[in-house]
Amino acid sequence: MGPIGVFDSGYGGLSVFKEIAKELPQYDYIYLGDNARVPYGVRSYETVYHYTLECVNQLFAKGCRLVILACNTASAKALRTIQQNDLPKLKELHRVLGVIRPTAEIVNEFSETGNVGILATPGTVSSLSYVIEINKFFPQVKVFQEACPMWVPLVENNEYESPGADYFVKKHVDNLMKKSPAIDTVILACTHYPLLLNKIKQFLPGGVKIISQGAIIAKSLSDYLVRHPEIEELCSKVGTRTFFTTDSTENFDKHAAIFLGSQVKSQFLKLDHYKYPL
Ligand code: DGL
Repeated sequence: MGPIGVFDSGYGGLSVFKEIAKELPQYDYIYLGDNARVPYGVRSYETVYHYTLECVNQLFAKGCRLVILACNTASAKALRTIQQNDLPKLKELHRVLGVIRPTAEIVNEFSETGNVGILATPGTVSSLSYVIEINKFFPQVKVFQEACPMWVPLVENNEYESPGADYFVKKHVDNLMKKSPAIDTVILACTHYPLLLNKIKQFLPGGVKIISQGAIIAKSLSDYLVRHPEIEELCSKVGTRTFFTTDSTENFDKHAAIFLGSQVKSQFLKLDHYKYPL
């Protein structure tokens, strides 16, 4: 038995972790933010896969048997390969789940026009993961995507409420709505974006629904654990929360308090590349 691992490239996954821990408070959790190497959204498949696998292995080494990739970019670019190539090599049962499929499968609960907008990192957009997954469930739904390369840096650098953020938020919201004025539902398909919610609302036309993933992923995990008792029984239930970052713990604690609305004390996680100083 071990904690449930929650992984993100940085702080964004905390918006998912917060909802998971609220929905399923009885479990132990380890959150890992790869803050030293954020952002993932502009990096190649190879790099995102390599970074994600390394972090997932670190969570496994800490006893996690189930890991949630609370990062759309990692879910888009690394999840399938990890599930198909890496997990079968392990002697014991381990599972890694992502955030794209659970979001895609409930799109119909929100959209009436069948025109859905995706705001995401360049990596998630170019992977076409949302287009493919939504069309698997709802072939009639039209999916329009807009990559927002500056939004993760705005959040990571605490600029998400600044007047400077208005320019980048407006630019991408306008670009998305130009692709189809019939869009009635917009998915914040990056776990960093809920922090930009107020600004996104300000620039989207009234009446367009905005979907954040946290509660969706929490509900989907809860259902998953009911459907998979063999995994559920591997998840320890003392109620502990442990936070690791691959960068400054001081910075992590400051930002995490903003995401979570409560104080945390993180620990530094040393990655392999520290073995090879330049
Ligand atoms: N939270 C990650 C996501 O959902 C951020 C990606 C990044 O590191 O650029 O895609």
